Amino acid sequence: MTTDAPEEPSPYGSGTRDPSSPSPSGPSGPTDPTGPSAPPAGPRRVRIPHLHAMKAEGRRWAMLTAYDMYAAQIFDEAGIPVLLVGDSAGNNVYGYETTVPVTLEEMVPLVRAVATAARRALVVADMPFGSYGGSVEQGFASAVRLMKEGLAHAVKLEGGTAMVPLVKTLTDAGIPVMAHVGFTPQSEHQLGGYRVQGRGDAADALVDEALALQDAGAFAVVLEMVPAPVAERVTEVLAIPTIGIGAGPGTDAQVLVWSDFAGLRAGRAPRFVKKYADLRGTLLDAARAYADDVAAGAFPGPEHSFEA
Ligand code: KIV
Repeated sequence: MTTDAPEEPSPYGSGTRDPSSPSPSGPSGPTDPTGPSAPPAGPRRVRIPHLHAMKAEGRRWAMLTAYDMYAAQIFDEAGIPVLLVGDSAGNNVYGYETTVPVTLEEMVPLVRAVATAARRALVVADMPFGSYGGSVEQGFASAVRLMKEGLAHAVKLEGGTAMVPLVKTLTDAGIPVMAHVGFTPQSEHQLGGYRVQGRGDAADALVDEALALQDAGAFAVVLEMVPAPVAERVTEVLAIPTIGIGAGPGTDAQVLVWSDFAGLRAGRAPRFVKKYADLRGTLLDAARAYADDVAAGAFPGPEHSFEA
């Protein structure tokens, strides 16, 4: 696969999406769909070969989670090339303590909202716990639902060598797979809690797992909470991009949960999170100001009211 030549128009039409219309971000959108500061063009989609080309060129990129239309639109407009509809929706949308309770039925509408809103970004849907671990057939059926009903462009699944047959089946069937090793939140109870993985002797096994997933056809690998030197080693030996979260600066890409990076959640954030905004503070102030205005009779004003 190459990214040198521009994509041809869709041979079967683009449904209700007119490929010649400008993207919602207007004329400032990137021609190179992977670059936030690239020159103007239409809504070209980020494709897996773009991500592979960026690895080859040594260009780092950022992935964010998104669970709804507005987040997807904003991050897409900002030039974020890959949006992950993570099963972290469990903790960030549904209010669960972990990702374990999340179901396929809960994921599908979120994936569809993000995939419908994102014009350029590659949209990856997380396979939730219990939707793929039972058998290859179960995993295949779940991935197909995320692609057909959720309109995802790719799926992500957690696990190492045990996932190889499923990754092979999915990729053979045309479903791109992002792998996820290191700390895998769906196995938090098995792993004995939130613990850094791949330390000491376990580093070699982690490298082997990542290689096995690449050989099975995965197009990228998330490395979660692994020591920075180990993540760097995996990044060096893999031809596909590594995406780090709590894995240091040596990976090809980084991912953050959007409610963490935007400061939406209360309480202590994990060590690997950097807060780029204080949305929680902004919304608290706005909600209090609104309530005060209503109580004082200052809202709605004449400019918000209709004449007879
Ligand atoms: O569910 C999620 O958001 C994730 C990322 C943190 C990688 O798996």
